[in-house]
Amino acid sequence: MNIDIAVLSGDGIGVEVTAAGMQVLEYITRKNGHKVNAAYADVGWAAIDKYGTALPPITREICKKSKAILFGAVGLPDRDQSLPQAQRPERVALLELRKGLFANLRHVVLPPGLADHCPLKKSLISAGIDIMIIRELTGGLYYGKPQGIQGQAGQRSAVDTMAYTEHEIRRILKVGFETARQRRRRLTSVDKANILATSQLWRETAVAMAKDYPDIQLEHMYVDNASMQLLRRPTEFDVIVTENTFGDILSDEASMLCGSIGLVPSACLGENASATPFYEPIHGSAPDIAGKNKANPVGSILTVAMMLRYTFGLEQDAAAIEKACFKVLNEATVLTGDLGGTSGCTEVTAAIIAAL
Ligand code: IPM
Ligand code: MG
Repeated sequence: MNIDIAVLSGDGIGVEVTAAGMQVLEYITRKNGHKVNAAYADVGWAAIDKYGTALPPITREICKKSKAILFGAVGLPDRDQSLPQAQRPERVALLELRKGLFANLRHVVLPPGLADHCPLKKSLISAGIDIMIIRELTGGLYYGKPQGIQGQAGQRSAVDTMAYTEHEIRRILKVGFETARQRRRRLTSVDKANILATSQLWRETAVAMAKDYPDIQLEHMYVDNASMQLLRRPTEFDVIVTENTFGDILSDEASMLCGSIGLVPSACLGENASATPFYEPIHGSAPDIAGKNKANPVGSILTVAMMLRYTFGLEQDAAAIEKACFKVLNEATVLTGDLGGTSGCTEVTAAIIAAL
């Protein structure tokens, strides 16, 4: 099989973690007789310095022609400030490339060997943590109209709009139900239906759809309560499905359950061939540790596994990569600084390849 992908490493540690992901991809595909055709393209500050924009037409073109995008991170806070909001890499590149990709899957796993790194008491996590967060990615507050700041200085007002159609709600809930069916068959639908109209529609839709999924145990939870329950009983969550902003916040919270945001991979998926599927570790560009061989490559390597699973249907290869990552994490001898270790990005990557 040909693995035709665009590789957009971006800024800061995006460069080294994406190189690590690619090394693992090259290794496993060579071993299993697949061929990687990687088209590297500039994004973020590397692209601004060369082309004057964080997402140049050439990069768009390459992404359009590829079956999947492997992304690192964009944005350098010090330099971002020199640009108006609308021209910053997060907006110009990240949100653009995610357009049309409504389902954002973020997988939070706490390997047993890392129990010491979880900020929660052992007694709360002894059953292990494995949560798939499914965040709606193309609606809600990020895109609702009206949006903006108006008025004269001192008397300005600002508005953001949370809007959802039934169609948007139904298609993301479907991903939630179907994903739960592949896992432990528990689905937590997170909303704020005691207050928000969008959430009322969300909950009604979830209740109606549940009839088609009698095998799935569905629970509804208000988002404030969900943020508490994630700390109180994290092992009981299987799949969480929620709207854009709630998912953004809860996924950062949940990532800390496994000790480091550097471990969490994600996939952004759409319908049919509406847009090229986009894969990224959920962490940022971390300029303070960039280029020092300190970044944790596991988020990017697990992101490669998600890409093989969801875009290329190579479930066995995906599972093998995950197994190798968790083996290295469980042994806990080769770890980066975020997990209390002294190894570098390249050593962790080599250990994972050796485990493969
Ligand atoms: C994320 C980030 C982005 C988001 C920002 C950078 C726009 O927080 O990927 O979670 O809110 O989606
Ligand atoms: Mg976020």
